[in-house]
Amino acid sequence: MNNEISDYDKYGYDYEAYWENPKVNRSYENQAEKSVIKKLLKKVKNRNWFCDLGAGFGRLFDTYGDDFFNIILVDYSVENLKKAQEKINEANKLTNLPAGEAGLQANTYFVAANAYHLPFKPEVLDCLLSVRMMHHMEDPTATVGEISRVIRPEGKLILEYANKRHFFEVIRALFKKSKMSPFSLEPTKRGDDLFYNFHPKYIKKLIQDSGLKIIQSVSVSNFRHKVFKKVLGTKIMLFIDKIFRPIFSLIKFGPSIFVLAEKKTAEKDDISISQYLNISDVLLCPKCGSDDLMILKPEIRCKKCERTYPIIDGVYDFRIE
Ligand SMILES: C[S@@+](CC[C@H](N)C(=O)[O-])C[C@H]1O[C@@H](n2cnc3c(N)ncnc32)[C@H](O)[C@@H]1O
Ligand SMILES: [Zn+2]
Repeated sequence: MNNEISDYDKYGYDYEAYWENPKVNRSYENQAEKSVIKKLLKKVKNRNWFCDLGAGFGRLFDTYGDDFFNIILVDYSVENLKKAQEKINEANKLTNLPAGEAGLQANTYFVAANAYHLPFKPEVLDCLLSVRMMHHMEDPTATVGEISRVIRPEGKLILEYANKRHFFEVIRALFKKSKMSPFSLEPTKRGDDLFYNFHPKYIKKLIQDSGLKIIQSVSVSNFRHKVFKKVLGTKIMLFIDKIFRPIFSLIKFGPSIFVLAEKKTAEKDDISISQYLNISDVLLCPKCGSDDLMILKPEIRCKKCERTYPIIDGVYDFRIE
């Protein structure tokens, strides 16, 4: 049976509004996440192909936009990708960068795809970032397996997940007020939507079993609570976060954990910079796995299974279920 998908377009969910809601100030989480991503990206050696998986409207683009030759924003939501395209297009205009496809900076691509079936050849990405997507995945093993498949040997994964064993949840559990069973290893579904929280040990095993090794785990947004936000304010919270980050990371204190992992190498692997120049060099048909594709704008056709994938306004639509 196919996995259920958290389809933002189908439900008309406006994800950008979540961040811009004037009633809930989320600048603390936003800034905390971005500063950790920037720090972890410094550990990425090869900078040819990068993918932001579950990129949404491109909120995190400014953390990696200048760091890679080729950037692919992947998301199941075409509406969010269109927003990302507008936002990045606007930013490029301001910096007078050369225009590429659809008037965009030549090396930024927008791909609608299902994270369970990525349209990439094996081992093509130097780095894959995925933030706030994992909590929508009902089959985490398949997700991490698919992610690992497309990362190059020695390539990096930066994966964020919602931590069900975070400090405030443990306190709630001690007072029998937790709905999350923070000590059990299995993922816990919150509410009726596809929204899962994970135990750090569960994620660790998933990542290791998929052929990646964990280099670092960072606990983020440790004080995400409206009372702290009101009393302390963003700047002080970010400062405290930074000071205590090593100890908070060690005990997996916070509600959001960022893992930096590396794809293991076999001795025969060539780990020099990848030779893929164009998007057509890294794509494959997510339905049959063939890389024999014909790019005949406005569509891509798989020569093997004959499935076609439309390219609409610069968005490659490779979604399959
Ligand atoms: C909470 S948003 C996070 C967006 C962005 N990473 C950020 O942090 O701002 C989750 C994103 O994951 C995408 N998503 C959910 N399930 C997906 C799937 N199966 N394949 C690809 N994207 C998916 C959603 O469309 C949405 O844009
Ligand atoms: Zn095919």
